[in-house]
Amino acid sequence: MMGACKAVTLLSAVTAAALAVYAYSSLPPDVTEPGKVVMFKAVFLTFSLIGSTYEKMGFGERADLFRKIGIKPAFLESDSNLEVTDSSFSGVQVRIYKPQLQKGVIGSKRTGLVFFHGGGWVLGSVHAYDLLVGRLALGTGAVVVSVEYRLAPKHKFPIPFEDCLTATQHFLQHASEYGVDPTRIGVAGDSSGGNLAAAVALRLNKDDKKKFPPLKLQALIYPALQALDFQTPSYVSGHSLYVNLPAKLMIGFWVKYLNNNMSLVETFANNEHTAALMKSHFASYVDRHFLDDSVPRLVPEDVRIDLPDDMKDLLNPYYSPLMAEDADLSGLPNTYVTVCGTDVLRDDGIMYAKRLEMAGVQVRLARYPSAFHGVMSMNLALKHFEFELGKQMLQDLVTYIRELL
Ligand SMILES: *[C@@H]1O[C@H](CO)[C@@H](O)[C@H](O)[C@H]1NC(C)=O
Repeated sequence: MMGACKAVTLLSAVTAAALAVYAYSSLPPDVTEPGKVVMFKAVFLTFSLIGSTYEKMGFGERADLFRKIGIKPAFLESDSNLEVTDSSFSGVQVRIYKPQLQKGVIGSKRTGLVFFHGGGWVLGSVHAYDLLVGRLALGTGAVVVSVEYRLAPKHKFPIPFEDCLTATQHFLQHASEYGVDPTRIGVAGDSSGGNLAAAVALRLNKDDKKKFPPLKLQALIYPALQALDFQTPSYVSGHSLYVNLPAKLMIGFWVKYLNNNMSLVETFANNEHTAALMKSHFASYVDRHFLDDSVPRLVPEDVRIDLPDDMKDLLNPYYSPLMAEDADLSGLPNTYVTVCGTDVLRDDGIMYAKRLEMAGVQVRLARYPSAFHGVMSMNLALKHFEFELGKQMLQDLVTYIRELL
């Protein structure tokens, strides 16, 4: 329990921060629920300040402090309609959410979904996503497997990707043990989890095509899909709300996932890392034409690519799915892509949707112009700050999955 004194101190700090944020904010003009955004920003800034002060004074890690004063994400309340079990899929930790079958549908095989949480490959956990994934299972009626993949920078690419792939392959092979029809399994994820879902779908569409039943769908919620061009219009718009995903934070996540050489963040932000590639066929995979039809398509030149060894994965489609060749996109399952108006990753999602469409994949691109990055997943972090638009986004995702899985 938090002491009354601590509570008052915290409340005053949040109020002060809210006033400061309100006074100095430059919110995007049409952002959803601006009052809540300001409050959220204030809470975030207050905790960042308290956390960094705590760490600077040498008391320990901020996560321990927040645990001590009793702050934790909103978790799923036990729900008699949902059976939740922790398990291991070929050595990868997973949590399985199995909704009760509705009366009368006895014996019918059910659908399955493998979910990868967001957090820049660095943060987040199955536990922190409990509420969201539980709601996804209850809403869709699918058996949902949430994967505790190992995190960067301790475990760099390809380990997080391989954990996700291993868990998905295991589920595809053992589906019937969970009452699931192996031909009706999809993958989904938000942010870096969307990157992992796209990568797993690419891999299963390629090398493993004959060994496993094909995926039925992929759902990519404001996904991160490329690390070649950090000056797309959405990266340079400056319209990322400070608290959610500033460009440098996102680029830092890509670097931690790649090789953890943080001195590269500046280089990446200026696109210096790929200057030599900008006329190659790789650049044609992130062509501005996909964002704006009036821009002519890039005609790739025969450019020699010479990336240092610890940067070669920048061009690996399992690291950066937009680097996949057209031939590897064709044959991918039905795809749902969500993009937010206020998000450095907006153009990643649009480009991927466009390329998939051109490769003959059935794609639904759900655009939310007034949404910001994280609006759906954020609803599980602070229960009382639920954004209506986040709930809508989840509902739209549930509707898509019910329809196509
Ligand atoms: C980090 O990247 C910089 C710039 O490319 C390079 O000069 C440096 O050697 C790298 N450091 C390590 C430890 O690899």
